Amino acid sequence: MDRIHITGGAPLHGEIPISGAKNAALPLMIASLLTGETVELANVPRLADIASLLRILGNHGVDHMVVGKRPGQTTETGQTIRLTASNVIDTTAPYDLVSTMRASFWVIAPLVARFGEAKVSMPGGCAIGTRPVDLLLMALERLGATIEIDGGYVVARTRNGLRGGEISFPKVTVGGTHVALMAASLAHGTTVIENAAREPEVVDLAACLARMGARIEGAGTPRIVVEGVSRLGGARHEVLPDRIETGTYAMAVAMTGGDVVLRDTRADLLHSALDVLATTGTEVTALPDGIRVRRNGAGVAAVDVTTDPFPGFPTDLQAQFMALMTKAQGQSRIRETIFENRFMHVQELARLGARIRLEGDVAVVEGVDRLKGAPVMATDLRASVSLVIAGLAAEGETVINRVYHLDRGFEALEAKLGRCGAAIRRERA
Ligand code: UD1
Repeated sequence: MDRIHITGGAPLHGEIPISGAKNAALPLMIASLLTGETVELANVPRLADIASLLRILGNHGVDHMVVGKRPGQTTETGQTIRLTASNVIDTTAPYDLVSTMRASFWVIAPLVARFGEAKVSMPGGCAIGTRPVDLLLMALERLGATIEIDGGYVVARTRNGLRGGEISFPKVTVGGTHVALMAASLAHGTTVIENAAREPEVVDLAACLARMGARIEGAGTPRIVVEGVSRLGGARHEVLPDRIETGTYAMAVAMTGGDVVLRDTRADLLHSALDVLATTGTEVTALPDGIRVRRNGAGVAAVDVTTDPFPGFPTDLQAQFMALMTKAQGQSRIRETIFENRFMHVQELARLGARIRLEGDVAVVEGVDRLKGAPVMATDLRASVSLVIAGLAAEGETVINRVYHLDRGFEALEAKLGRCGAAIRRERA
């Protein structure tokens, strides 16, 4: 398995292009199952999770074409993918495919909405808590689907198509909202989704569905109303920038010091995280086509953070922020409210000399003057990139094992950081 070697200590200077959002691209690709016409998605990041989902969609019979690079495009400008689900041959999503990526479970919604049946393996994905699918299934049941669990598979069926209904989520769920939106778009009648997730990726999915002919109001607010239509058509849509990648590199710059422009991204996608960074003493400036992040020789102030659904501080940036706080001046309390087991990076950060203790859902981080490089293990997607950030600021060499987690979510990580002066290289197995 590949490893990443980092020699810490160098400040970051330069520009980092931000890729399209993985967490938007995945539901957008899945939405292509709602129509027999072609859905063209631009700015799709080149990531292992995208390739896995293409395999899963291919298994259902979705044709895909990756459009060639245009002159002037680098490999990091994202790819354009055309997906056509005109000939769906199989409504089963098998275990060996779905178990590699949790989001692929969401295919259940377009399959049952368009074809009246879907058989999808219970999901796998990052090992961060139990991550059930009960709310996703509740949403489908509210729209009239019958749900059975059979041999590790969820079987969803409807006789005469889905019907609009009231879906009130007891807890904010991004996946649940994506599923509800896709299913309701092809249901007969009106669906009201209460306590909907407000994440930018939900808004992006709703915008693409609208281009396909769906009638959706209120995406980005807690109450979304969908008037079902009998069919959806093709569309062209550009995936929004990855706010988690943006925040990750912003924290890397805060950690190492330096001056970096994060290009092709938007500050409004991650206000809460940028506000927190500003409180640590990092200079954050919104630019017309990106964000400039600067920190000079001064240290980082300790700040307390609680993760929350959007527009709160994202759980997907919690590990990275914890890495930053390991060298802060003073004590920071980081509370995780979304996933109960999302502290696996704590023991790995401790290997670099971080002082962190867990008190239930709070990690108490006592800032230290120096971290020291060590071999560490990546345990999940966001945890592994927190080790990269810590390694960039540690003395000596940090070796990150099991980097396949990184490849699931961070496009060209070594190249992007390397061009800004980081001493980072991949050792191919
Ligand atoms: C998505 C993101 C993930 C992010 C998370 C929260 C993608 C591909 N993944 O995951 O990166 O960390 O949002 O912002 O977009 N829950 C239930 N029952 C359910 C569904 C969820 O109890 O049926 C719980 C979860 O265990 C968790 C909370 O709801 O505690 C939020 O999960 P959810 O928003 O659904 O996360 P995902 O959509 O899986």
